Amino acid sequence: MEDMARIDAIIADYRGKTSGLTTILQHIQDEYNYLSPQAMERVAEKLGLPLSQVLHVATFYKAFSLEPRGKHLITVCLGTACHVRGGVRLVEQIERLLKVRAGETTPDRQFTLETVNCVGSCALGPVMIVDGEYYGKMIPSKVERVLKKYQ
Ligand code: FES
Repeated sequence: MEDMARIDAIIADYRGKTSGLTTILQHIQDEYNYLSPQAMERVAEKLGLPLSQVLHVATFYKAFSLEPRGKHLITVCLGTACHVRGGVRLVEQIERLLKVRAGETTPDRQFTLETVNCVGSCALGPVMIVDGEYYGKMIPSKVERVLKKYQ
């Protein structure tokens, strides 16, 4: 749960500046890894804007997430090349270790697990990416060691 005093401070810093709304949302996103309904309501109220306008910006830009996100983003490729080389087994191993399903975030908000279709590194498949760092030719037994680097 966000600290509303902190949200208010972010709003106060950027209120009235050009592209203030987007910048404020970006800062809240950076700090909490997502935009909660409460945070968006607060921004609308403090800036005197309709909530629909805040929602419009929040859903327009891909950088914003309306779902809680973990501090670390784990992406497993399930494109054809990675799939046939065992991408699904990587997903299952991560799900088992972190006790989340693909698309979910751990309760401590440390990790979000997602799957994608082809990240353009098929020769390295199966590929797992953590916070933008690529791990190619991954096998399930190596997953735990990789995750430990981020815990
Ligand atoms: S299918 Fe995984 S990188 Fe292309």
